Amino acid sequence: MIVAIDGPAASGKGTMARRLAAYLGVPHLDTGLTFRAVAHALLTAGQPLDDEVLAERAALDLDLGALDRDILSAHEIGEAASKVAVMPKVRTALLQAQRAFANQPGGAVLDGRDIGTVVCPDAAVKLYVTASPEVRARRRTDEILSKGGSADYEQVLADVRKRDERDTNRAVAPLLPAEDAHLLDTSKLDIESAFRQAVGIVEEVKAQ
Ligand code: DC
Repeated sequence: MIVAIDGPAASGKGTMARRLAAYLGVPHLDTGLTFRAVAHALLTAGQPLDDEVLAERAALDLDLGALDRDILSAHEIGEAASKVAVMPKVRTALLQAQRAFANQPGGAVLDGRDIGTVVCPDAAVKLYVTASPEVRARRRTDEILSKGGSADYEQVLADVRKRDERDTNRAVAPLLPAEDAHLLDTSKLDIESAFRQAVGIVEEVKAQ
């Protein structure tokens, strides 16, 4: 069974994806990390973020087994990832790796922005996890502060809005719920209740 989870930055989709993968006993790919890894490779090589040829090369060289969440989860790398993600050649290069991961025997859970619409349009279960920009900015700020970093809520909120704008309005594979996705708004639901709803949806599909 393939489970496709999409949603904007800091919506809770990553936690949801990890928990569902553990529940189902299948591997999980956070596709945001693949875009983050491309941005990180360019930044560490001192290369620009808007050169499509260099960015495509970094995407083709990516090793899915070597994605380091601790390094890649930095807020600035998320910003940079959203810039490289607008380039069609980067998306095509990463798409191959993402699809191969999705189609492994036994199934997988993938989360990102275009999993239900582009990467796995035939996924058995599609979830679109969202929350208001204010709730997402509050969660992201608290997360950074809890790790001992410094964050200003207003600045994080401005970044969340900028990222939504870029991810939603790009020409290729924009952030968008698939027509057959189940919407889970975590603005008012805690993660536990959202997870229980998702399990209910998965179990219903399994029983068919
Ligand atoms: O989910 P995240 O914050 O780690 O994603 C970082 C950026 O990567 C996001 O702003 C847009 C891009 N992305 C994408 O375009 N498509 C995906 N499937 C996943 C992420």
